[in-house]
Amino acid sequence: MKVLVGYATGEGQTRKIARRIADLVADRGRAVELLALDDAEHIALQRFDRVILAASIHAGHYQKALSDFAGRHSDGLNDMPTLFLSVSLSAAGHEAEDWRGLQHVLEDLEAATGWAPGRTEQIAGAYRPAEYDLFRRFIMRRIIADKDPDADLDNGKEYTDWEALDRLIEHWIDG
Ligand SMILES: Cc1cc2nc3c(=O)[nH]c(=O)nc-3n(C[C@H](O)[C@H](O)[C@H](O)COP(=O)(O)O)c2cc1C
Repeated sequence: MKVLVGYATGEGQTRKIARRIADLVADRGRAVELLALDDAEHIALQRFDRVILAASIHAGHYQKALSDFAGRHSDGLNDMPTLFLSVSLSAAGHEAEDWRGLQHVLEDLEAATGWAPGRTEQIAGAYRPAEYDLFRRFIMRRIIADKDPDADLDNGKEYTDWEALDRLIEHWIDG
């Protein structure tokens, strides 16, 4: 079995998630290719048996590299087992409104690309102030201060549950 792990990232957390998944898939004896979706021009999907795509949400949207890829390959993706990992800070919390927002972002992706992921999981991302410009730092500090009063706003914080991610991938790959 050969698995494609494609990702799009803004500040690097989704890249980190994708790398971990690629290592895990390889450790389980499967062939794997890790692909940055903004460099996915001539990839032949027929070379793969399963596809995992991961992208993060910024201001209510996934990266254009993800929607371009999913739109270009929607027929192929719809015909094979696919897992989509949606990375965000909304997924780090339990607010119903935030989770409704996540559902809308996903529906927008499906409507825009024609790709209906076989399975989708919402994954908590990270607060990475060192990667933000001044404006983003200002906005993100306010959001984190509101959502996570215990966070140290000057330092990054990962909300990704790595063990849960490992379990998810192991089940999906073996299933
Ligand atoms: C400018 C900016 C906008 C963001 N907008 C959203 C958002 O609309 N909804 C959300 O849940 N998270 C939002 N986030 C949080 C990111 O999804 C989260 O930090 C994620 O880990 C980013 O992953 P990446 O490093 O792979 O880009 C935003 C983050 C930044 C910096």
